[in-house]
Amino acid sequence: MITHHSRLLVLHGPNLNLLGSREPEVYGTMTLAELNSEIEQFAALKRAEVRIYQSNHEGKLIDLIHEHADWAEGIVINPAALTHYSYALRDAVTAVGLPTVEVHLSNIEEREPFRRCSVIRPVCIGQIHGKGLQSYLRGIELLLGEEEG
Ligand code: DQA
Repeated sequence: MITHHSRLLVLHGPNLNLLGSREPEVYGTMTLAELNSEIEQFAALKRAEVRIYQSNHEGKLIDLIHEHADWAEGIVINPAALTHYSYALRDAVTAVGLPTVEVHLSNIEEREPFRRCSVIRPVCIGQIHGKGLQSYLRGIELLLGEEEG
């Protein structure tokens, strides 16, 4: 599948710019800048090139997916609340045909019922939730084909 020096697009959805101060009991105290720095360091260890973006706007995330269709070899996306209802974002993932992993900081299975449904997951190669930063790192590993099972 994807080998060394792969190029990965990492996307954070709405409200994730507020990480650190936003519901720390749910999302932890790490800021988005700190999270991104950890992602960058991990990617470098894995010899992967990453481009990381956050947007509060559905259309911006869709544009970023389109714009990176030729550059990226895989996508790690935390669609945040868009997870639960954005068919447009789902269609963008399908349209570019890149292997995509959906990740979440929190355990979406054990929160409000509306969070259990993801409209994005069916078009992804996997979903990892409830592991904080590790959700993203395991998402990268999954794309790099290093994850077992
Ligand atoms: C989230 C979970 C979503 O349900 C929520 O809307 C978010 C963050 C997570 O990372 O745990 O904004 O995607």
